[in-house]
Amino acid sequence: MSSIVIVGAQWGDEGKGKIVDVLTERADWVVRFQGGNNAGHTIVVDGVKTALSLLPSGILRPHVKCLLGAGVVMNPTVLLSEIDRVRAAGAEINPGRLVIDRDAHLVLDYHILVDKARELARGASKIGTTGRGIGPAYEDRSQRSGIRCADLLTPHRMRERVRAHVEEKNKLLKYVLESKAHVDFDQLWTQLEREAEILAPFVGNGSRLIFDALRRGEKVIFEGAQGVLLDQVHGTYPFVTSSSTIAGSATIGVGVGPKMIDSVLGIAKAYCTRVGEGPFPTEMLGELGDEVRQKGREFGTVTGRARRCGWFDVVAMKRAIRTSGIDSVILTKLDVLSGLPTLKLCTGYTRGDELVDDLPPSSEDYEGLEATYLEVPGWSEDISSVRTWDALPKTVHAFVETLTNLLECPVSFISVGPGREATIPVAPPQVVREFLA
Ligand code: IMP
Repeated sequence: MSSIVIVGAQWGDEGKGKIVDVLTERADWVVRFQGGNNAGHTIVVDGVKTALSLLPSGILRPHVKCLLGAGVVMNPTVLLSEIDRVRAAGAEINPGRLVIDRDAHLVLDYHILVDKARELARGASKIGTTGRGIGPAYEDRSQRSGIRCADLLTPHRMRERVRAHVEEKNKLLKYVLESKAHVDFDQLWTQLEREAEILAPFVGNGSRLIFDALRRGEKVIFEGAQGVLLDQVHGTYPFVTSSSTIAGSATIGVGVGPKMIDSVLGIAKAYCTRVGEGPFPTEMLGELGDEVRQKGREFGTVTGRARRCGWFDVVAMKRAIRTSGIDSVILTKLDVLSGLPTLKLCTGYTRGDELVDDLPPSSEDYEGLEATYLEVPGWSEDISSVRTWDALPKTVHAFVETLTNLLECPVSFISVGPGREATIPVAPPQVVREFLA
């Protein structure tokens, strides 16, 4: 048995897709366990870029099987167009290679309309969602009325439930959210029936498949989406996503027990970014923020929105390490920091005379919160073509070593560019070494 959970250890966009792709050279399965097409994972192979939002990042490796687990919310229209796009790029996708768990819930047009209308109604206190209907789909799941992938197998049985949903959401849109948006049942149903027919052969029992695969000794990667700090419970609530993004969610979102997880890797950028609203104690405002955004190409894969950039936040990351049981960190995008004379690492916060040693619970608590920084020397060299740890400048070594000590967690790899080859081992744990063997 060999299984690794990969989570984003910040607010998403840490480069998980690339790392999953690198680690799948010898993997048998890559499994998504939460979120939906709010995620945007970019993989670069031989200079060719592929952006994925629903398909697991193993899809570009022909020998890897992929599962959209029960904890995922799946928009059938988006999945089908992504399958077409990835097939056009040469990948083979068939029901033997891609499985969609029967218990995963569907994201339908009305979820998207409600998501957008709710954001508008929130006005200045909007969350800055991706507008992909993710929150409303999870709401339906929680109130036990959602439409699931199993329903794609028997469309006639879900027809009246979908109609009831459409009627309910139309009322919600018109009378509560005061929106002009409206869903036409006939149109939605015609499309959904067609999509159900194409997707039905992909629907399977993910929990059983992964349990059996692990029992046979196969290698499984559980691929998280978003980041731990966007976790619905442990993140910067209410500026969070609607699913559980911590590593424990892998077992819930697939349906295997916690003892089946061997290792948790946390992916973090050498700085921080966040998209949408919400507290960000180390945010770089002004020119520096713009410079890092441009250099790091910090624009959303899914929405194209400019990401807010900030210094590395050790306090926030320690929360991620704790809540996800991260046993090793992969540090990405170090190349982006080249040329900055001094780098800052946030080691604590203060509010007036008070020391604050964890992310506060409410957004109001961030008023007056100041980050305290440790300053370390930067490096001027372009490190994007360096391929070994020894060939990196001493200042990069010192930066990584300082972070390792502050985080009290080893750094196993660093990444200095978007391609597979720009991933440098530092101290990979035994489980990962065996995984790659
Ligand atoms: P939602 O997931 O669309 O409901 O958006 C809720 C919050 O999570 C917003 O701040 C989004 O910008 C953020 N978010 C959702 N998915 C991602 C992601 O994949 N990367 C970064 N931020 C995300």
